[in-house]
Amino acid sequence: MKWKKIGDILILDKFDENSDLDKLLKEHRVKTIIQIENIQGTRRKPNIKILKGSETDTIHKENTCLFKLDLSKVMWSKGNTHERLRIAKEVLDNEIVLDMFAGIGYFSIPIGVHSKAQKIYSVEINPDSFYFLNENIKINKINKDYERIEAILGDSKNINLDEKVDRLIMGYVKTTHYYLESGINSLKKGGIIHYHETVPDKLIESRPLSRIKKIANSREVELINIRKIKKYSPGVSHIVVDARIY
Ligand SMILES: C[S@@+](CC[C@H](N)C(=O)[O-])C[C@H]1O[C@@H](n2cnc3c(N)ncnc32)[C@H](O)[C@@H]1O
Repeated sequence: MKWKKIGDILILDKFDENSDLDKLLKEHRVKTIIQIENIQGTRRKPNIKILKGSETDTIHKENTCLFKLDLSKVMWSKGNTHERLRIAKEVLDNEIVLDMFAGIGYFSIPIGVHSKAQKIYSVEINPDSFYFLNENIKINKINKDYERIEAILGDSKNINLDEKVDRLIMGYVKTTHYYLESGINSLKKGGIIHYHETVPDKLIESRPLSRIKKIANSREVELINIRKIKKYSPGVSHIVVDARIY
């Protein structure tokens, strides 16, 4: 049986009618067992089925960061654990970062905890995710000296910051390229973009980078790396392109 434990909630991939849920509850030391039926729309709203227990709010720990969330309202973005820490460790002292699809703080919180970034702008469109983003800023004590993470409720397409950023994180895989223009316009000369996309395997080396170059237009784009994050569906991968844009 495939499962994932988020805080003290167990998420089952497939539910076998013969499973002993009380035994699973004890074995995994959880309060609730759920199944995610689907995740809907751009706001990534999950539809869940509660198999045992009742509470769906929890605090999950990953890479020494705390993530408070309610699994009936917001998704846990799985499979990116390594990537979230990798990015946080690449952020240089005093950087200004823009996280265009912040969710509950999947990238912003590790950056706040593990780096000395001066400022992190975290944009999120879904009010439920935005609520937990703010909670997570609090419980990880990131803004204790000043508003280091500035959470912005809104659409990344209309971003208009007072300053340009050193690093841009585009961690949303559905239609990320539609947001390249507002993202690249926010990026300083010589800044770095981490651009996520789901792409057919045979286009990994060509499509994402050509999309970035097209929008960057006359700005020079220097490829740093293309990395596979995970298999998305048969023949399609979730990848991230790291590039510097002058
Ligand atoms: C999949 S989650 C983030 C995943 C996370 N970056 C990771 O890889 O671990 C994507 C988030 O982007 C948000 N989102 C989608 N469209 C958006 C938009 N136009 N502006 C801002 N946020 C958006 C969704 O509500 C969702 O919380």
